[in-house]
Amino acid sequence: MRSALEQRLLVITGKGGVGKTTVAAAIGLLSARAGTRTIVAELGQQARLPALLQAGAPQPGTESQLAPKLWSISIDPDQALLEWLQSLGGRVPGRVLARSGTFQYFAAAAPGAKELVSMVKIWELTRRQRTRARHSYELVVLDAPATGHALGMLESPRTFGAIARVGPVAAQTASVRELLEDPARTSYLAVAQPTEMAITETLELADRLAGGFGRELHAVIVNGVLAQRFSAAELDQLERASEDEALARAAVLAARAAHARARFQRNQLARLRRRRLRVVTVPFQFASELALAGVEGVAERLRGRL
Ligand SMILES: Nc1ncnc2c1ncn2[C@@H]1O[C@H](COP(=O)(O)OP(=O)(O)O)[C@@H](O)[C@H]1O
Ligand SMILES: [Mg+2]
Repeated sequence: MRSALEQRLLVITGKGGVGKTTVAAAIGLLSARAGTRTIVAELGQQARLPALLQAGAPQPGTESQLAPKLWSISIDPDQALLEWLQSLGGRVPGRVLARSGTFQYFAAAAPGAKELVSMVKIWELTRRQRTRARHSYELVVLDAPATGHALGMLESPRTFGAIARVGPVAAQTASVRELLEDPARTSYLAVAQPTEMAITETLELADRLAGGFGRELHAVIVNGVLAQRFSAAELDQLERASEDEALARAAVLAARAAHARARFQRNQLARLRRRRLRVVTVPFQFASELALAGVEGVAERLRGRL
């Protein structure tokens, strides 16, 4: 299978808080350091990437360079919809539109519109020949929202396609849909923690991708995996050696608990492998908040495995 880093668009999703942004940043670094012009797109008003990679605070909604060959942008779906409505409405000033209630009305009346307009922006970033932009990119890494919302976004061309059948909107809708369905351009990565619920949700994501797009997950990145530090034999040995001392016994109990937890996690990985999904594990890092060094650790771990 071709490396995911050779794609045009890499969509990263998974439950909230599992490490999507960390993985997106790590993949961005890996790709840029391999010489590929890369942009990581965040959605919502987060813009966490610049801080994570220790770059200066960017202007909202702009493409800003974080490192050699690496850019990021934060796309706000509300803002994207407002701009799009303005471009259709011609001379209606944005602030009038924003105040008039038309915007809220439209956003409520056209399900999937915000999501679709955001996806059009992503599609725009993937284009080689971009008309008005300064940069073109070889890889776009999409730090997508949590699974359910991300699926809504990926399905928006279909939801919205039913509303807009002709004109420029219909053409853009079709372009987004083709991009998302094209195995030669787009790959999907799931990030999950090794818990029962997260793995179940990942398997459901794989089903919906297959059902809705005829696409497979390129890989599942299982983040925060505990190392199996002792073998069962070593644990027994430890226990025998520590029979007399209460403190040592407590240590043995802790070691046994860690061992059981690591084994449980491995059983969860087995559930993914039984479904023939490619699994890449990233170890749990004992730090209060992963900063640049942590992201680099994740990047090192993913190198050559995607
Ligand atoms: N492998 C890891 N080990 C330890 N902490 C991690 C790991 N990966 C991510 N984190 C931490 O978990 C939190 C959530 O990660 P984040 O990437 O923001 O998740 P998401 O984007 O899915 O919400 C952050 O504080 C991050 O530093
Ligand atoms: Mg995030």
